[in-house]
Amino acid sequence: MEALKKIAGIKAAEYVSDGMIVGLGTGSTAYYFVEELGRRVQEEGLSIVGVTTSSRTSEQAKRLGIPLKSIDQVDFVDVTVDGADEVDRNFNGIKGGGAALLMEKIVATPTKDYIWVVDESKLVETLGAFKLPVEVVQYGAEQLFRRFERAGYKPSFRQGEAGRYVTDMQNFIIDLDLGQIPDPVALGDQLDRTVGVVEHGLFNGMVNRVIVAGQDGLRILEAKH
Ligand code: A5P
Repeated sequence: MEALKKIAGIKAAEYVSDGMIVGLGTGSTAYYFVEELGRRVQEEGLSIVGVTTSSRTSEQAKRLGIPLKSIDQVDFVDVTVDGADEVDRNFNGIKGGGAALLMEKIVATPTKDYIWVVDESKLVETLGAFKLPVEVVQYGAEQLFRRFERAGYKPSFRQGEAGRYVTDMQNFIIDLDLGQIPDPVALGDQLDRTVGVVEHGLFNGMVNRVIVAGQDGLRILEAKH
């Protein structure tokens, strides 16, 4: 599996060229993309500016000598490469397994070419086997948790090393064990309207292409939107 992630991550770096502002994703697959970019910056003199999606990725990029700007210092991002936890055939997906969904969505939104890198196990018929991460403000989180319970969403607070996991943006994550999400757009809209929810891990129709590494090689799925 690790080898497949690496193949996908390195392939994605081909979409980056001199002068670009590049969104740097988070997670074990995006990791290989960032490593490859770092190699090209060091060995080939590739000139780019990175915008990171988590403190973890910032540390990695700094170690590799990739010049960075914050998302507030740029008007747009040329290309962002990130991982995903599940992807369906309509190019809807779940992200946030690594708890970086809020920053990831903020960087993805002004991105011209948004690319996911996944191994083939992430392709699913219906989203939802992977628990849906929902980032919530700490104030009133228990209220919201009980509301999710009543709705039958089987919520659980994400745990860190010392109690509840706290995100880079100082929020909690509630994971929803939905089993199946027959209508990701409707659920995404509903969560968007839920007070206390900062962001959710449904990235519906945002991605432009998905680079899939499988036992039979690489495939690139192009979204039509
Ligand atoms: C981070 O919050 C996530 O959105 C990741 O991009 C996603 O969980 C995929 O991670 P892996 O590539 O490690 O599976």
